Amino acid sequence: MMAASVSLSRSLLALRPGAPVAPKVSVRGPDSLRAHGAAVGLPVGCAAVPELLELTGERAGERAGEGHDPYTRTVIEQAGILVAENSMKWSRLRPTPTTFDFAPADKLFEFAGRYGQLVRGHNLCWHEQLPPWFATTATKENAESLLVQHIQAVAGRYAGRVHSWDVVNEAIHVPDGRSDGLRKSPWLALLGPEYIELAFTTAAKADPQAKLTYNDYDIELDTEEHVAKRAQVLLLVRRLHARGIPIQAVGIQSHLQASGPRPGAGVLSLIREAAKMGLEVYITEMDVNSHALPGSADLQDAAVADVYKQYLNLVLPEPNVKALLTWGITDAHTWLNQSKQPWALRSDGARQRPLPFDDSYEPTPAFFAMRGAVDSARRPLAPADIMAPEKDSKDLYAPFAVPGSPGVAAPPALPASVVE
Ligand code: G3I
Repeated sequence: MMAASVSLSRSLLALRPGAPVAPKVSVRGPDSLRAHGAAVGLPVGCAAVPELLELTGERAGERAGEGHDPYTRTVIEQAGILVAENSMKWSRLRPTPTTFDFAPADKLFEFAGRYGQLVRGHNLCWHEQLPPWFATTATKENAESLLVQHIQAVAGRYAGRVHSWDVVNEAIHVPDGRSDGLRKSPWLALLGPEYIELAFTTAAKADPQAKLTYNDYDIELDTEEHVAKRAQVLLLVRRLHARGIPIQAVGIQSHLQASGPRPGAGVLSLIREAAKMGLEVYITEMDVNSHALPGSADLQDAAVADVYKQYLNLVLPEPNVKALLTWGITDAHTWLNQSKQPWALRSDGARQRPLPFDDSYEPTPAFFAMRGAVDSARRPLAPADIMAPEKDSKDLYAPFAVPGSPGVAAPPALPASVVE
């Protein structure tokens, strides 16, 4: 079992010979991102890799997370909401046109159920991660039934258990030159622009409870490219809404950069325009890429944390922002350290540090920036007001005051002003 407390990340501490011994700070139990999110009524969580999660359960008398490997433990302790990073994409679910492999997705739902976590679904319709057979099998004649059957099978299987579905992912790509901004994707080529409405209406029938979401990236900044894309995303969402298509949320992925322009007024206006339509907004895939930022790990950490702080302080106070997920929980398993693309590789060869926990499962400055922003987003109650006081270090393993967590009483109801 790991020590109940962890030391502050190195950029927060002076690691000099003779420097004072690092103070220990807890980031677990009531001090976790999950508990701080629950305290303000905001589901906070991350993308997870089901294949890496241990589903063995705790031994009698053990608390949630105890006895697990660091990845599993951190996901249990820190996430109140999960999304499969890859396991619910077409390529993973559909080995052949006529068969499904639900094993990793089923595992994620079982895991989340055991630990009282919500689950987002990602995704039902996307131009990427289509299985190899798709290009040779899908035709204009069968594409509609392929899409409809897929959504019926997948959304239907998990109906009633999904917080929100990314029904259509990344459908806008302004450089493709269409006046409606739609990406020239396989779905567009096969079915025309109506594929988007088809996906949403089919998903609504398959899972009437999930919040149906349009999810996209590069819509956070006020650069020319982001402004143009954001405008097309908003127009698309407005068209769907005006036609009575069942859409309840917009996902702002939030893959941000440590250097360069920062998000500002534009993303706020998108969130507020969504609110006017009664739509929720989720920060669905946040991380901060520092490939272009020269300098030490400490400098990376400081810049990354500053982006978390500034961005989340900007968007989280908006009342229709209803969930916050990072794209992974640890730098040990981030797509930014797996990709060999120029936009992911640092010139010094160092690994990126885009997430709340580093390669060694130490909290990064981004963790504290994120937790602070969550606290100040809707600050009705301090965690101490809703969590049992710590008795000894073992209590740091205590499950979290999230309704549904095993073995924990539900926290007192939040005041109406918080719940809205
Ligand atoms: O699992 C195979 C492995 O067997 C094989 O040896 C290896 C060789 O390349 O590939 C592995 O699959 C990779 C997979 O990630 C798991 O690591 C795929 O090649 C790779 O393409 C895939 O990348 C994922 C990417 O989506 C796919 O487009 C990333 O993990 C995932 O983080 C990323 O997530 C997307 C969201 O879905 C949508 N928004 C953007 C976000 C980041 O790109």
